[in-house]
Amino acid sequence: MDHLTVTWATQLAETELGTTLSRRWAHSQGVAARAAELEPVMGKDAGLLTAAGVLHDVGYAPRLAETGFHPLDGARFLRDEHSADERLVRLVANHSCALLEAEERGLRDVLAGEFPLLDEPLLVDALVYCDMTTTPDGHRATAQDRVAEILGRYGPDSVVGRFIRRASPEIFGAVARVEMILAAQPR
Ligand SMILES: [Fe+2]
Repeated sequence: MDHLTVTWATQLAETELGTTLSRRWAHSQGVAARAAELEPVMGKDAGLLTAAGVLHDVGYAPRLAETGFHPLDGARFLRDEHSADERLVRLVANHSCALLEAEERGLRDVLAGEFPLLDEPLLVDALVYCDMTTTPDGHRATAQDRVAEILGRYGPDSVVGRFIRRASPEIFGAVARVEMILAAQPR
């Protein structure tokens, strides 16, 4: 996936989020910046990861919120309105352990049926890493602080709170795996 795709993805995310949800847009830009930093690790998939990073929360855009579950709404939008690349769509649909949140919402079969988890663990881990080390304002954070912030914002017994408590071992595992790969990179 090339530079043009990243430009397209960035413009599309800005169109959908930039005016209505400026904080989500700032977060999305931060996630894309983390993704761009992983270029030496991702090789030919660097552009795909950056495009997924900038678009992962597009489903929060009010006009796209059909089910209210943003990974599913965003993926459907990219598939149906933009015929986007299938790997990109499946990354957005499943970003940051979305299947576990889908379960909390009774949408697991819908999500898994329409958008199977990509069988490319490094890409899946890398998107978790980028999202979960970026604050809602787009700044860098540890995954521990990020999970704590989400728990505090939504409350531990909310749908998102229950989801993030169940997902946190997988989130921390994914972040640790990517950090190990980064640490092994020649400087
Ligand atoms: Fe995010």
